[in-house]
Amino acid sequence: MRDNGALSLRERLMLQLLVLAAVLAVALFVAVRTVAGSAAEETLDGVLGAATIAVADELRGGEEGVSVDLPHEAFSILGSISEDRIFYRIAVDGATITGYDDLPLPEAARSPAELSTPIFYTTQYRDTEVRVAVMQRVVLAGRLSTAVTVLVAQTRAGQAEIAARVANQAAGIGLGVFALAAVLSILTAGSVLRPINRLAEAVGRRGPSDLRSVDHPSPAELRPLVDALNGFIARLRAGLMRTETFIAEAAHHIRTPLATVRARAETALRKAETEEARETLRAVIRAVEESARSASQLLDHATVVYRSDRPERESVDLARLVAGLAQNFQPVAGLKDVEIHTEGVTAPVEVVGDRLLIEAALRNMLDNAVKYSSPDSEIALVLSRKGDEACVEVADRGRGLSGGAQPDLTRRFARGANVGDVVGSGLGLTIVEEVAAAHGGRFELAERKGGGTCALFWVPLG
Ligand SMILES: Nc1ncnc2c1ncn2[C@@H]1O[C@H](COP(=O)(O)OP(=O)(O)OP(=O)(O)O)[C@@H](O)[C@H]1O
Ligand SMILES: [Mg+2]
Repeated sequence: MRDNGALSLRERLMLQLLVLAAVLAVALFVAVRTVAGSAAEETLDGVLGAATIAVADELRGGEEGVSVDLPHEAFSILGSISEDRIFYRIAVDGATITGYDDLPLPEAARSPAELSTPIFYTTQYRDTEVRVAVMQRVVLAGRLSTAVTVLVAQTRAGQAEIAARVANQAAGIGLGVFALAAVLSILTAGSVLRPINRLAEAVGRRGPSDLRSVDHPSPAELRPLVDALNGFIARLRAGLMRTETFIAEAAHHIRTPLATVRARAETALRKAETEEARETLRAVIRAVEESARSASQLLDHATVVYRSDRPERESVDLARLVAGLAQNFQPVAGLKDVEIHTEGVTAPVEVVGDRLLIEAALRNMLDNAVKYSSPDSEIALVLSRKGDEACVEVADRGRGLSGGAQPDLTRRFARGANVGDVVGSGLGLTIVEEVAAAHGGRFELAERKGGGTCALFWVPLG
């Protein structure tokens, strides 16, 4: 989820862990290289020093001066370690007795005590870098104590090769550590973010009208967020409840005076003497009827909205409910010579739900059927079981929907284009649809074959 191009928590966490892993891998690479490099140098220096000592041990003093018997074994050990070239120089007071006389002496002067064991330095010699071991031995030559300097040098190709090998291995180890850390960082980011994702899923799964507080188990760091969310939900619920109560009370308080106005207007209509006055009074009565209908539907709708949040879960016998409603509507239908035929109401059909809500829905469907029926027609009120659902069908032979689509007609306050002459508020089908949804059912409205409208209300069987 991106917000204004900012990195997601997962990306942030992974980026930081990867940077950390990269730094650690580089540090490991440098450490392995340095340690292994200096270990290799120490080993090679040891061999070079041993060869130098072996040469120094062969120094002999005599009447004629210093002589040396070069120990070839020492040089062959040096040669066996690598293909490097070897140079030596034996000098007395800077004058070479044998060997390469351009082999450079150490830059800084060393004391004889220091030079009693080999000292090592790296220097440039004949266009290449060499490692030099130098030491001194005091020999009696012509009765004089003479300090003889022994230098043994070796080119560094062997060490460079070892260093390159070690560097390769160190790079391999570094890369391995980085890859392992990358995998671990993906797993860590996943596990750190899992509680957040679970919480988001739990909240996201909720229905649009689910205003229960969130009690999903979440880590301590998320508690303030969950508490804030619950506080917000509680305030929203209280606000909604106040609104619904207000609507219900307002509707209730409007209906009573409207009834008085209507009664007075009807009396006045009977007494009116001019056609103009009668016309006005009829308009007043019609407006009052509309208002009363709206008030009563608003009241019903407020109840439905309020109860849909937590519908009762009781066993409802649809057969009895449907039969009762048919009986209640008989007188109104009778005024238009409309007959209501019930079917499937002899045996009980049990569903689990809120009796009051289901009754409100069915009443509105039947009200529409009666209201929009042509005089002297029939209404089929059929209750049936279909699969694991119960279905109440209300089919009339009225004016039909004249092309009106269900989604348009079920909207709040939406009315069809062909019903201007009938009093209505446009809330009836909204109520029906909300009740069906609250019970996990559905509502369908369609033109009936052969004319009229067919309304179907489905609820899962209990
Ligand atoms: N049985 C029907 N025959 C013809 N049209 C219908 C029928 N049932 C619903 N309609 C159409 O759907 C519209 C919406 O119905 P709904 O019940 O929501 O509102 P209403 O009947 O106009 O007003 P009220 O809220 O007073 O019931 C109606 O205005 C009408 O155009
Ligand atoms: Mg209606």
